[in-house]
Formats: sequence, C-alpha cells, structure tokens
Amino acid sequence: MDISTDPVQRSALVTGANKGIGLAVAEGLLKLGMTVFLGARDVDRGTASVAALTALGLDARFVQLDVTDQRSVDAASATIADDAGALDILVNNAGTLVTPIRPPSATSLDEIRRTYETNVFGVVAVTNAMLPLLRRSAAARIVNLTSDLGSLTLASADENFPQLLAYNSSKTALNAVTVAYANELRSEGILVNAVSPGSVATDQNGHAGVLTTEQGARLPIRMATLASGGPTGIAVTADEDLDHHLLAW
Ligand SMILES: NC(=O)c1ccc[n+]([C@@H]2O[C@H](COP(=O)([O-])OP(=O)(O)OC[C@H]3O[C@@H](n4cnc5c(N)ncnc54)[C@H](OP(=O)(O)O)[C@@H]3O)[C@@H](O)[C@H]2O)c1
Repeated sequence: MDISTDPVQRSALVTGANKGIGLAVAEGLLKLGMTVFLGARDVDRGTASVAALTALGLDARFVQLDVTDQRSVDAASATIADDAGALDILVNNAGTLVTPIRPPSATSLDEIRRTYETNVFGVVAVTNAMLPLLRRSAAARIVNLTSDLGSLTLASADENFPQLLAYNSSKTALNAVTVAYANELRSEGILVNAVSPGSVATDQNGHAGVLTTEQGARLPIRMATLASGGPTGIAVTADEDLDHHLLAW
C-alpha cells in the first residue's frame, strides 16, 4: 500500500455530503483537484450527488456512511483504505437538529440521545475509524462543523439565547471533543479545529439562513487546507459578511 509523503493534500472524506453544506464542501475540495469521498447514509441520495459531480469531471466517490452505525463507519474506513490508502482531510459535517425551539425542561431524553448519537458520538466513531488513514498523510486535517449555538460564552451572556437544549449542548460537547483530539494529535502535526459556518440556508433551518451553501463551505474548506504549523484546537465562525473570527467556547 502506498504511503503518501507528499505534503500536497489529495484525498478527503466529508460526512453528510449528499446535500447542504457538506455537498458544497465536497465540491469545493474537488475543485482544488482532490479525490473526495462523499459520505451519505442513503445510497440513492449519495450516488445522485456523486453523479452530479462526476458529470463535471470531478473525482467524487460515494461511500455509504451512517455515522450512528459502527458497521457502516468501519466499512467506509475499509473502502477508503482500499481505494486511496490514506486520507488527508476529514470533515465531520453530518449533523442533526431534531427538536424545535422549546424550554430545556420540555425536551425529552430521547431527543437529546438521538441528537448526540449523530452530532457527538458519530464524530468520535468516524474520527477513530479514520485516524489510521489520516496518520498516513503528511498534512492531515480534521474539521468539525459546530455552531455558534454551542458556545457557552454566547449562551451565558444572553437570557434569550435560542432554547435548543439537545442541539446546542451537542455542539458544546463537540467543541470539547475537538479540543481533546487537537491535544492528542498536536505532536503528530494533525490539526483539528471546529468551524461554525454562519447562518446558511439549508434543510436544517428550513432555508432560513442568509448564506448560500457555497458561502458556508468557505470556512470549512479553509480550515481543511491549513498549512502545516497552522492553528489547532480552535473554533472559528463566519459572520454575514463572510469575515471570520475566533468563536469563544
Ligand atoms: N445551516 C446552518 O446555518 C448551520 C449553522 C451552524 C452549524 N451547522 C452545521 O453544519 C452541518 C451541516 O448542516 P446543514 O445545514 O448542511 O444541514 P442539512 O442540509 O440538513 O444536511 C445535514 C447532512 O447530515 C446528514 N446526516 C444526518 N444524520 C446523519 C447520519 N446519522 N449519518 C450520516 N449523515 C447524516 C444528512 O443526511 P440525510 O440527507 O440522509 O438526512 C445531510 O446530508 C451540521 O453539522 C450542522 O449542525 C449548520
């Protein structure tokens, strides 16, 4: 099996890439000349998105990936190992928002568990499964899609902060996961950061966001392609002018 020693990034996996921000991130990385594995839990939705990209002459490849299903995660890792031998970029994009705004006390444990399965445990499962492949890269980067809604600094400063206990706390937990992996992998040169993409019009928010998916993909792509020696263990957020700045945990 070939082990890449070239610092140029060649391959990426984006989870939840059949639509929304994930699809736009995949397309952006493809247009940089990479091979991109589009992870999607649904075969029809995933292959349709891949077909649209390959029709543009891009090296998009479908990989079935339900981040809440360990067998699916392991199979995806095996497929990428066979196909590419290594992985330069992992974008943990798949996410879910299962509950409408309502008081925390009216949120069920089942809603919280379902949210965490995807937004937190899914990220840990995929990251662990892909780490052996990322360690074969000379410039591995991990990007986790977080949200301003996961910021304890912002939440504690605003009594009218949106009441989304399951989603918000899942992103807070994801931030902690990001810092933990950044600390573990720092000495290996693997940069791990969290990105809040801004308010992006997607199915998740009924297309109420103000940014296009292409605009929302810019910051994740930037953090996925950081030069060696770049930041690790930080969160960045995009505002409506597409400026970006540090997001306070
Ligand atoms: N939109 C925003 O303004 C915004 C703001 C902050 C953060 N984010 C974050 O950005 C990420 C992308 O969100 P989006 O707005 O693009 O949402 P979206 O359009 O609803 O897309 C979510 C993607 O995640 C996939 N997914 C959900 N559960 C999955 C699972 N168990 N396994 C694999 N894939 C799964 C979905 O697949 P299916 O099509 O099969 O459901 C879909 O491809 C999320 O992590 C979200 O929390 C979004």
